[in-house]
Amino acid sequence: MKHLIDPLDFTVEETLELLELADQIALDSAPYAMACRGKILATLFYEPSTRTRLSFESAMLRLGGSVLGFASAESSSVSKGESVADTIRAVSCYADICAMRHPKEGAPLVASHYSGIPVINAGDGGHQHPTQTLTDLMTIRRKRGRLDQMTIGLCGDLKFGRTVHSLMKSLVRFGDIRFVLISPEELRVPDYIMQDVLLAHSAPYREVETLEEAMPELDILYMTRIQKERFFNEEDYVRLKDSCILTADKLRAAKSDLAVLHPLPRVNEITAEVDNDPRAAYFEQAQNGVYVRMALILKLLEVAAC
Ligand code: NCD
Repeated sequence: MKHLIDPLDFTVEETLELLELADQIALDSAPYAMACRGKILATLFYEPSTRTRLSFESAMLRLGGSVLGFASAESSSVSKGESVADTIRAVSCYADICAMRHPKEGAPLVASHYSGIPVINAGDGGHQHPTQTLTDLMTIRRKRGRLDQMTIGLCGDLKFGRTVHSLMKSLVRFGDIRFVLISPEELRVPDYIMQDVLLAHSAPYREVETLEEAMPELDILYMTRIQKERFFNEEDYVRLKDSCILTADKLRAAKSDLAVLHPLPRVNEITAEVDNDPRAAYFEQAQNGVYVRMALILKLLEVAAC
């Protein structure tokens, strides 16, 4: 039985296969409309979510399956003190596959050790978010036609932003990617990402503090929200929250075929005027999240189109 806990749980070949399938589904989803009839997806969300949970549920419903689950720890037996291990043992009796989001790093991995069904990590603390990465890769590939030979700017909260960690971990395998890491000094990528991802793959990178320093060279700009909920004190958040804001004015210095991505939710790091720029790809990215999750559910449940 296969789980998706870390982006590296799928090889480059498996990742590309999944993206191919997602592209096919985007083109014509009709052959998949009943592929998961009789199957149940459980969404176990111990942390807030809009896109990830709803796109998982939408994906399963569009495959003809059903969904159950909870959207906050308070509404489950966790509030009574139940462990993740016990919860997943029970959920394995009620569902065929589960997506779990948890504030503790490693919780979905622990769950996978006790689970009788495939577990998908839908975000664990400031650690990893592999299904957002699949969504990001699908969007990058559709925008640029490839996943190598490009300069990608990652901007915002690179320290706590799990989407950034997973994206770097996966992308570095595709080769010839230059990273420009755009953040205030205090929000730079954690050491383990620096060591295990960038240095281990000898990936070219540079660190800058402003968008202006990076803009002209970028093929992809990946914006992120400052992760307020992971700060230890409010003061630091208030001081750093407006560090990097993408405006229409700053975009003037960018390439005409740049693609701007954002996992969403956005707070104020991209001004609303940017939404009308043809380079803004973040709503298309949210749409791709459904296709990629449909492909992922099919793959993990080993079901084909009917
Ligand atoms: C992200 C997350 O939860 O990590 N959102 C998402 O899944 N689309 C990004 C964020 O919360 O900033």
